[in-house]
Amino acid sequence: MPAKNLVLVVIALVIGLAAGYAASIPVQMSLEARIADLQAKLNPNYVEKIKARGVLIAGTSADWPPFEYVDKDGNIVGIDIEIAKRIAQELGVKLEVRDMKFAALIEAVKNGLVDIVLADMTPTAERGKQVDFSIPYYFSKGNAVVVPKDKVGSFKGVADLHGKKIGVQLGTIQEEWAKSTLSGKAEIVSYDRVYPEMVMALQRGDIDAMVLGDIVAGVIVDKVPGLAIAFYAGGGRIGAAVALPQGAYDLKYVVNKVIEQLLESGEMEKIFEAEIAKWMESGG
Ligand code: ARG
Repeated sequence: MPAKNLVLVVIALVIGLAAGYAASIPVQMSLEARIADLQAKLNPNYVEKIKARGVLIAGTSADWPPFEYVDKDGNIVGIDIEIAKRIAQELGVKLEVRDMKFAALIEAVKNGLVDIVLADMTPTAERGKQVDFSIPYYFSKGNAVVVPKDKVGSFKGVADLHGKKIGVQLGTIQEEWAKSTLSGKAEIVSYDRVYPEMVMALQRGDIDAMVLGDIVAGVIVDKVPGLAIAFYAGGGRIGAAVALPQGAYDLKYVVNKVIEQLLESGEMEKIFEAEIAKWMESGG
């Protein structure tokens, strides 16, 4: 082979190799990203990050007494906040509570805007596709339908909701229940916030009834004059769990440990009683 041809072959080879190498960079990088992703999944460092930050960020929707509401002094308080405090204590960090619309909470966990969510959130299969859940910390009688006290006699069951305006909170299981049970039969009005906004709408007569969780309905009718529980309808036994990012096994371990201890020691019951009493005394 003449020397000139040999040079050409070598040049072609070098170019070929360089092109091949360049082409493999994205593959390599995506492979590295996938390995890092897998490693993060196997060794989650959520707890480490929270400890380094010194703050646990909990998301909630403070419109749902006695689980979470804004008290007279403007502080976010309630059962979920007490539980969140215990989790922060276990982690050895401070607690920061971020108040947002209930319907925005799942996204907030997914985006890492908050570390966990405590919002009397019911662990459903649908939500489970997007976030992870702790063990449940309360069990429920289901949904309660709340109406003006003077009309309670005309609301005996679901059929009495037909042709009426029904208030529910956006993004909740109560909204889902109302939509699946009453669509085409009643007008469903979704609100971002329950207390005080939706409660005031019912008092004003903008809506005829509202669907709430059992405990929430109970404490609202006990405190807000002129409202009563008409009947219970729909909703499962499992009340609420803490929502966490998917794969945050290290954090879930800590959260489950705290909940288990609170349940077993009887302290959870005390938190519920104390927070209900606090709401009744001063409240929001
Ligand atoms: N348990 C219901 C759900 O998960 C309602 C929760 C509403 N919580 C609140 N903080 N507003 O859909």
